[in-house]
Amino acid sequence: MKFDTPAATNPIDQLKVVGQPHDRIEGPLKTTGTALYAYEHNLPNQAYGYVVGAGIAKGRIRSMETAEAKRAPGVIAIVTAENAGKLGIGEKNTAKLLGGPEIQHYHQAIALVVAESFEQARAAANLVRVEYQSEKGRFSLNEEKGQGKKPEDGEPDSAVGDFQAGFERAAVKFDAIYHTPDHSHAMMEPHASVAAWDGDKLMVWTSNQMINWGADDLAKTLNINRDSIRLMSPFVGGGFGGKLFLRSDIVLAALGAKAAHRPVKVALQRPLIANNTTHRPATVQRIRIGASQDGKISAIGHESWSGDLEGGQPENAVQQTRFLYAGADRMTQTRLAVLDLPEGNAMRAPGEAPGLMALEIAMDEMAERLEIDPIEFRILNDTQVVPDKPSAPADETDPQAKAGEGGNKDLPFSQRQLTECFRQGAERFGWNKRNPQPAQVRDGRWLVGIGVAAAFRNNQTMDSGARVRLATDGVVTVETDMTDIGTGSYTIIAQTAAEMMGVPLEMVEVRLGDSTYPVSSGSGGQWGGNSSTAGVYAACVKLREAVAQKLGFNADDIEFADSKVRAGNRSLPLKDAAKDGEIVAEDTLEFGDLDKKIHQSTFGAHFVEVGVDSFTGETRIRRMMAVCAAGRILNPKTARSQVIGALTMGAGAALMEELAIDERHGFFANHDLAGYEVPVHADIPHQEVVFLDETDPTSSPMKAKGVGELGICGVGAAVANAIYNATGVRVREYPITLDKLL
Ligand code: MOS
Repeated sequence: MKFDTPAATNPIDQLKVVGQPHDRIEGPLKTTGTALYAYEHNLPNQAYGYVVGAGIAKGRIRSMETAEAKRAPGVIAIVTAENAGKLGIGEKNTAKLLGGPEIQHYHQAIALVVAESFEQARAAANLVRVEYQSEKGRFSLNEEKGQGKKPEDGEPDSAVGDFQAGFERAAVKFDAIYHTPDHSHAMMEPHASVAAWDGDKLMVWTSNQMINWGADDLAKTLNINRDSIRLMSPFVGGGFGGKLFLRSDIVLAALGAKAAHRPVKVALQRPLIANNTTHRPATVQRIRIGASQDGKISAIGHESWSGDLEGGQPENAVQQTRFLYAGADRMTQTRLAVLDLPEGNAMRAPGEAPGLMALEIAMDEMAERLEIDPIEFRILNDTQVVPDKPSAPADETDPQAKAGEGGNKDLPFSQRQLTECFRQGAERFGWNKRNPQPAQVRDGRWLVGIGVAAAFRNNQTMDSGARVRLATDGVVTVETDMTDIGTGSYTIIAQTAAEMMGVPLEMVEVRLGDSTYPVSSGSGGQWGGNSSTAGVYAACVKLREAVAQKLGFNADDIEFADSKVRAGNRSLPLKDAAKDGEIVAEDTLEFGDLDKKIHQSTFGAHFVEVGVDSFTGETRIRRMMAVCAAGRILNPKTARSQVIGALTMGAGAALMEELAIDERHGFFANHDLAGYEVPVHADIPHQEVVFLDETDPTSSPMKAKGVGELGICGVGAAVANAIYNATGVRVREYPITLDKLL
């Protein structure tokens, strides 16, 4: 099904099942320990692999001595770049997943020791002796950012009007630099894979967000046929972007299983993850805002510098600045420096999350300079059209465009309730209780402050396919390679099929995360919820047609409800359609270019109250509220869980998360969950999530959009602004640890 015009009324709009706060259908499997995660798959005769990571950041392996390790008890095989055969590199990877002799980053995998037990593999791995030829690496973004180049792929620079001139002319100017550090995904389930070969067929359970990308890249890396791979990832214990792409566990499990002629399981040991897998790159961001005395932004400029390995990607931290606020003269730029740190990549709303950490402090600072309330300042500069894209692409079907007048129109947002988010949040949170003078409110030893920030995240869509089956007993089964990374995909997919086929939720079975199922959107960039359910919708439309035909109904006025099919005064049980055998339908929802004619974004407002200990400088968050406008909410319960998780991640980014670089040796020193601090329950207070009523017919037949990543975007700045309000100390360098407040 092609989706290229706004969705008409369809069965989803009934909202009998969709839009209801159903519990997760796979919840009992998880809470009883019966949902099998990758590493929990046990195969007969399996062996265990232990990964050896490089002990230098840049250089070469001069020699690797494995004889002693090979003789160690239980050792079956040792895989290295020397004996692994020729390996390719996946499209989504920058560095090799099995390094050697050249070393591209610290803890790059250089060997896998396979043994009868995990303990034996680990003990033998300690006997592998490696000598390196180390080279001087580049590890400091501050030092290298001057060498930053325009990234080859990624967003080009944007420019509208004349920023320099506009900024110079502005009555009130603001110019500041912000720093965000490297972040680690720190998901609970480590990267893990269990691989087994049957001749040239490879079967692998893994923990991955994007089954199709994963299978494609595994084939490329191993130089084998894509069709001989079956990749399964039915349950994922957190991804956060760290499992969008293949990592060394899956490649080494496959190579280890080949070498050992046995199934092999590999989990990346926790201390390896920070340096072996990807991370969110640090940024340096310069923001300049020029405005009139009465607070209208006339010029806005945002530059961001980040680093990555040669051939890597920039952190697109300027993204939201192209869309969020009005202003005639504007520019954005990203610059990418080469760093020899581990590979950077997507994490928890890449782009907007670190971008808003800077932009939304800058907006707070500018509001103060203008002596305008920070909410009113944002509302004053709200816009219903994309500010840095004054013209929509010419619409061939538009008669005006044919007459040569098209192509110059403003590009509107499909929905934009930013102002409503602020107004509702202000009311509910009690914004009027905020003292605009910083450092005035005390509660015993605590200095108390309130802060706000805008949330923004673009709404991406991805083609998504599904297969639906109607069985003789009336059970509807959905199969798609979509993943559920803790987000609730199982549940919203079941809700979609139940709504479409007119059956109760209990009559739907959902099977996910298997490369033998139709290719879905996968889980990333907050596109999964809307896109994958839209694919299920498309397959169900086909199944409804097949049922109608089978039962001799006219498909136009047919109604599916209460496990029955009705038209006029004729009614039959749905399962009758399958009495001669199961009916199967499959389709893919293909997104056209509707999102180029009308811009789809999601919006929100974050409110945070903090207390800062006036003696120690310790910040405690007291209350948080997110107000989100993100299209139809398919399940308010799972969506709320997404947003409170995102708020928690935002609190982490604001106050504690930071990969500390050892600049002598080029690695992240705090590479475990003891050193890399994330929030725990005691750090997180009352959280409230409000969804504004919104349906977006331009996003898909589901009329939904992404919401999970929106929840993190802006949180860090709201915390920073609350800290400023509490203390009068403005910190422009995250995380805002107590030393920066004293
Ligand atoms: Mo997300 S960081 O695109 O998984």
